[in-house]
Amino acid sequence: MSVHIEIQRSAQSRLSEVDFNDVGFGKYFSDHMFVADYVDDRWQDLRVVPYENLSLSPACAALHYGQALFEGMKAYKSAEGEVLVFRPDENQRRLNVSADRMCMPELPAEYFHAGLEALLKLDHAWIPTAPHCSLYLRPYMFASDAVLGVRPAKEYKFIIFTAPSALYYNKPVRVRVEEKYVRAAEGGTGFAKCAGNYGASLYPTREAMKAGYDQILWTDGHLHQYIEESGTMNVLFVLKDKKILTSPVSGTILDGVTRKSILQIGREWGYQVIEERLSVETIIQAAHDGHLLEAFGAGTAATVSSISAIGYKGTDFELPAVDKNSFSRLILKELEDLKRGVIADNRHWIKRIKTA
Ligand code: COI
Repeated sequence: MSVHIEIQRSAQSRLSEVDFNDVGFGKYFSDHMFVADYVDDRWQDLRVVPYENLSLSPACAALHYGQALFEGMKAYKSAEGEVLVFRPDENQRRLNVSADRMCMPELPAEYFHAGLEALLKLDHAWIPTAPHCSLYLRPYMFASDAVLGVRPAKEYKFIIFTAPSALYYNKPVRVRVEEKYVRAAEGGTGFAKCAGNYGASLYPTREAMKAGYDQILWTDGHLHQYIEESGTMNVLFVLKDKKILTSPVSGTILDGVTRKSILQIGREWGYQVIEERLSVETIIQAAHDGHLLEAFGAGTAATVSSISAIGYKGTDFELPAVDKNSFSRLILKELEDLKRGVIADNRHWIKRIKTA
């Protein structure tokens, strides 16, 4: 199906304002954005327009009742100048899983992909090429009509904007096992990438930061005994006997694209992947008796971020330092090489965007 997208170019590019030696995360936004409106029960008016502020009713439903969700993806440039996006089909699929949970309309896959392509065609010069840098892509959807009663809205906006970005964490993170606050409960919205999950995490994260940690290691909302995920990423643990442990994707855990990619490659590399309910005690015991080689977070923004210490019941368990042969470093290199087209894409994970 061919999708019509109206293109309105920005009068003046802001690209020359970007310091590509220090792009940060969310410090700069590219010249354009893709927008689609859901009105009268269908997505319409697909367009790429200059990146600009939105005009919304003060009664905009998303601002009151939280019908808002998002995705995160990354675009890279190969040495030959091709634009490559890592597994966008997975994000498109998950966007609609989240939308369903939030009573929001599904976005057809062809609109998602056509919007992304049209946007990258205009803004591909914003893709940084330095190691560990990429163009972060932020697709999101929110209820846009004026609503006061608590009910699903009738109008929505889907937008993709982009930001040249470096690593989310530029050093290994210290995490604290959370035993008081809850990220997600059974039957809640933990598996959906909805805005409220992130808003609710801010207070407990600030508490952990005050105590000297960078992030939280969330546990189950019932007993606080089982590991779920970390603030902005899934978590994985590598044991000495070539085992990778991680919590299974469930109603309370985000089905991370980086997570599932790492598990697949890990299996290909001969690791035994154990996706079973993972108790905090198992990990603490493994850290204590030296079986735990590595712990790391996995996410689009975070990519692969080492965890240097786990705080639990007032004790900090420092984890062994990683080196270039550690699983997390090897998998990070494999993913980076794949995303930049340095190695063959045998798994068909890379979408090539035609820019001419
Ligand atoms: C991502 O990894 O893209 C995320 O969504 C995490 C983000 C909240 C920084």
